[in-house]
Amino acid sequence: MQILIVGGGGREHALAWKCAQSPRVRHVFVAPGNAGTALEPNVSNLDIAADDIDGLLRAAGDKNIDLTIVGPEAPLVAGIVDRFAAAGRRCFGPSRDAARLEGSKAFTKDFLERHRIPTASFATFTAANFDEHYVRAQRLPLVVKADGLAAGKGVVICETHESAIATSREMIEGKFGAAGNTIVIEEFLQGEEVSFIVVASDSQVIPLATSQDHKRRDDGDKGPNTGGMGAYSPAPIVTPPLHRRIMREVIEPTLQGLAADGNPYLGFLYAGLMIAPDGTPNVLEFNCRFGDPETQPVLMRLQSDLIDLCEAAIDGTLERLDVRWDSRAALGVVMAAGGYPDAYRKGDPIGGLEAAALLPGKVFHGGTRIQGTQIVTAGGRVLCAVGLGDSVRAAQRQAYDLVHDIHWNLVQYRLDIGYRAIERE
Ligand code: AMP
Ligand code: GLY
Repeated sequence: MQILIVGGGGREHALAWKCAQSPRVRHVFVAPGNAGTALEPNVSNLDIAADDIDGLLRAAGDKNIDLTIVGPEAPLVAGIVDRFAAAGRRCFGPSRDAARLEGSKAFTKDFLERHRIPTASFATFTAANFDEHYVRAQRLPLVVKADGLAAGKGVVICETHESAIATSREMIEGKFGAAGNTIVIEEFLQGEEVSFIVVASDSQVIPLATSQDHKRRDDGDKGPNTGGMGAYSPAPIVTPPLHRRIMREVIEPTLQGLAADGNPYLGFLYAGLMIAPDGTPNVLEFNCRFGDPETQPVLMRLQSDLIDLCEAAIDGTLERLDVRWDSRAALGVVMAAGGYPDAYRKGDPIGGLEAAALLPGKVFHGGTRIQGTQIVTAGGRVLCAVGLGDSVRAAQRQAYDLVHDIHWNLVQYRLDIGYRAIERE
C-alpha cells in the first residue's frame, strides 16, 4: 500500500513512523512533513500544504495513494474527507459536518446539552445579543471562548466581570477574525484534565490507550496555555471504573448523538475532559483528530498495525479487531523554540540529534526543516522526545536522557512532565 499522511508536526511524524512499520505498506508520503519525516526510512515528504485540498487530491492520484490519514483539524473542518470520498479515495477522518465538533464550540455546547452529556453551563452570544448583565450575574472565574478555530488562543479565563466583558467584546469585534463572531461564555470547572482518545466508526468504537498532556508552558502547570508541552500514556487517573464512566457518559452518547443527527463519525475522536472531584467527566472540548503530543507516546505503545485499525474503521469492522498495547509506559517531552507560545525564533541549528539517536526511545520532529547539511528549528514545538519504561517514572528518565543530549539556542522545555502520574505511582 501507499499511504499519505496530511500534516507536518510531531503527531504526523509519529503517524508516518508507525505506518511505515506495517508489513502491508510500501511507502509513506507526508504533506508537507518535516525534517524528521524526510529522514525516516520508507517515508518521504511532498511539498504540499496541509490545507491545500486540491493539491493533496492531485498527489493522491499521482502517487497511487491507497489510504490517506489526516493529522490536523483545519483540513478536516474544511471538508477534506468529503472531497476525497467524492473522488473515490479512502481517507481516514470525519466528514466536514462531523468535524464541526471541533470547528464550532457553540455547535458542540448545543450538541452536548441536547444529548445530556456532562459539560460546563454556558451561554452563546454574537454582537447582536451580547448581554453584559448576563456576564455580571455569573460566578467567577469565567471562561470566554471564540466559537471557531483560533489555533489554541481562543480561550481566555477571566478573573473579573470587567475582564470577561472586555474579552468578549474584543472577540466579537474581530480579534480572532470570523472565529470570534460567535462566543461561548462558560462556567470555570475545577478538577484534573484528561485526554480521552478513541477510534470511532459510527457506533463502533475502540478506545486508545489512556493519556494525559500538560497544556501550560511552565513547570507546575503554570504560565500561558500552549498546544501541549508533553504527554504520557497510560494516565493512572483513568482507573477502570472512570474509563467505563467516560465511555458510558461521554463517548457512547456522543457517537449515538452524531449518528442520530445525521453526522456519523469516522476517525480519531479526542475528548478533552475535566474530571471533577466527584468523578464526573465534564467535556471541555472535542478535537476531531489525534492529539499532539499525545499521539507520540500513545503510538510508541501501540503494538497492532495502525493501517489495520484505520481500515477496519473505514470498513465498519472495528469491533472485530483486537488491539494490542505495550504494557510499558511512554512519556514525551516537548522541546520548544525560544518565545513559544508567542512569537518564536526560527532557523536555529539543532545539535545532538545523532547522539540522541543512539539512545533508547525516539525523538519525533515537529517544527524542523533541513537547511543544507543542518537540521534547524522551523516551528514553535520543535521536537518531542519519547521514552519507554516499566513505570511513568522510568519512561520520564529515558525521555529526559534524550532531551539532555539535544540543544539549540534558547530551547525551552518543562522539567516535570508526568509529575501527576508519578505522584500516583
Ligand atoms: P479548550 O480549547 O476549550 O480545551 O480550552 C483550552 C484550555 O482552557 C483547556 O485545556 C483547559 O485547560 C482550559 N479550560 C477550558 N474551558 C474550561 C473550563 N470551563 N473550566 C476550566 N478550564 C477550562
Ligand atoms: N494536546 C492537545 C491537543 O492536541 O489539542
